Amino acid sequence: MIQSEHQRRAYLQALGIDVWLPSAAPSPTAIVDAPVADAAGLDWAQLRAAVAACTRCALHRSRTQTVFGVGNQQADWLIIGEAPGAEEDRRGEPFVGRAGQLLDEMLRAAGKTREQVFIANVLKCRPPNNRDPEAGEASACRSYLDRQIALLQPKIILAVGRIAAQTLLATDTPVGKLRGRLHHLGEIPLVVTYHPAYLLRSPKQKAKSWQDLCMAMDVFAGRNS
Ligand code: URA
Repeated sequence: MIQSEHQRRAYLQALGIDVWLPSAAPSPTAIVDAPVADAAGLDWAQLRAAVAACTRCALHRSRTQTVFGVGNQQADWLIIGEAPGAEEDRRGEPFVGRAGQLLDEMLRAAGKTREQVFIANVLKCRPPNNRDPEAGEASACRSYLDRQIALLQPKIILAVGRIAAQTLLATDTPVGKLRGRLHHLGEIPLVVTYHPAYLLRSPKQKAKSWQDLCMAMDVFAGRNS
């Protein structure tokens, strides 16, 4: 999507970001190998069906439906969040609540629409009362995400929020320390940013999130990579 400087500024203004911050030069910091995947070999349709029928953890008992992920199966950008919330569980699509609307605006500011990227979560089922995913749930679900990554072969991954970043990078480093530098998942560049739900509570952090998006755009464009 080609957008004018004027449009981009309008989106940033709508996001409540009034500064245009140049992106920091990223430096590779982590190479993480994906764990062995037992969904390996499945195509998109088989993977979707496997997720829909999944009973690997207790979350299948409380879910309304699984939330597989949405977007372009040829997307260069993969956005990975934490887990479905109430609205996502109801509609079967990730990031459709208030946080999702902010994510859409962030993507638009980066020149992307929801249809151009692929959006998935670490967990495909909603944890009750929106509690944090448990380690066992994340590892039960991991092979689905790994297969989505293998099928997509994205050029860049944007991990939004602590759970996504820490799960993907296998670390307990706080998100504030993970953002601002370039990571890799295998060969794939990975940028960490704040979760839009956190940004709704802490709008002052939106400027940092915009820096992260700038880093992702730079890396994707082959600048500073
Ligand atoms: N938060 C997430 O991390 N994912 C969603 O799909 C919705 C909210």
